[in-house]
Amino acid sequence: MAVKPPTVKKKTGPVTYNWKDHALDGVDVRLRRCTGKKRPGVPAADPSYVFRENMVREFAWATWPHDDGPWTPCLLSGPKGSGKTSFVEQIAARCNVPVFRTNLNVGTTVRHLKGRQGAEAGRTVFIPGIVTMAMEQGAWLLLDELSGVTPPVALSLFPVLEPDGKVLLEDAQPPRYVRRHPDFRIFCTDNTIGAAQEEARFSYTGTNPDLNEALLDRIGSLIEVGYLEPELEHKAVAAKIPTIEATDLACMINVASAVRGSDEIGGGFSTRMLVEWARRAASGSIDARGVIHRPDPEDDSYILDAARSGFLNKMKSTVERDALIEVIRREFDIAMPHNQ
Ligand SMILES: Nc1ncnc2c1ncn2[C@@H]1O[C@H](COP(=O)(O)OP(=O)(O)OP(=O)(O)O)[C@@H](O)[C@H]1O
Ligand SMILES: [Mg+2]
Repeated sequence: MAVKPPTVKKKTGPVTYNWKDHALDGVDVRLRRCTGKKRPGVPAADPSYVFRENMVREFAWATWPHDDGPWTPCLLSGPKGSGKTSFVEQIAARCNVPVFRTNLNVGTTVRHLKGRQGAEAGRTVFIPGIVTMAMEQGAWLLLDELSGVTPPVALSLFPVLEPDGKVLLEDAQPPRYVRRHPDFRIFCTDNTIGAAQEEARFSYTGTNPDLNEALLDRIGSLIEVGYLEPELEHKAVAAKIPTIEATDLACMINVASAVRGSDEIGGGFSTRMLVEWARRAASGSIDARGVIHRPDPEDDSYILDAARSGFLNKMKSTVERDALIEVIRREFDIAMPHNQ
């Protein structure tokens, strides 16, 4: 009688992924792409996204250093709506990597990030937090608004930021270390870190620009994200809102540039604001029958109407709002109404 060989319990390790060199159109930098099917959690690609080579180069160095040394966390710093979050997501979309994104704020706790005990079918189970899931699944962790972090959470992030750091899950039963996947990477974004904080620190309430130095010290790569150059911004917005008139868009971008360079009008002018403004201006209005009325190209006042509901009405200072209305009037040559 044949003797049955003893069943060897297979050791389950992390899923391994295959990677191939990859490059973005027109960007001469080697990235890596995870081959095979689209992985769950990979962001959708935005075909209108404009990549800047210097940013991609630094990103590649932080993520897949070509000296085969350790990777390093990467911080993207810059004004609101300049494209920090979307940059990480769009590279992930091209490289087929899931992104686990969370916004740090005063309510974020160590348990949210690492995990906590919960109940399931009458027993206690460990429910992993977003950091643990990203680390174990080999995803990219995106910590938005890093300076919203509280001191205890900042300290708990130290080992997460070290490529070989051991992260203890105190709430797991029994407590254990995170099984760190080799493909795990970490990115952070912020408005007020680095040289930018000198000007910006008072505009971003709820953030703490005096971030723990030891936390920053563990982040070996910093990308300063400024607004796109006018031609690139034109290309990006036109691709998102193809119905916007090219001349209208060019004037909108002039308005944005004027605000960005102004000492009198605070609050900045983000690419996000431009996209929304162009979208409203291009869409016209809809009547009760569902008929869409396109704006009258002979009368540019619709540009101002779109700006009012899009961003003018939420400006904090009426003086600055009136100054911005004046910039828009001049740029679009919109006459002052008689009753003003
Ligand atoms: N390079 C770009 N190409 C195309 N679209 C862009 C680019 N940069 C920014 N955008 C668009 O601008 C908007 C804002 O971008 P995003 O959310 O990434 O900004 P952010 O810097 O993370 O802003 P915040 O500081 O407010 O979090 C998005 O709709 C994004 O698609
Ligand atoms: Mg963001």
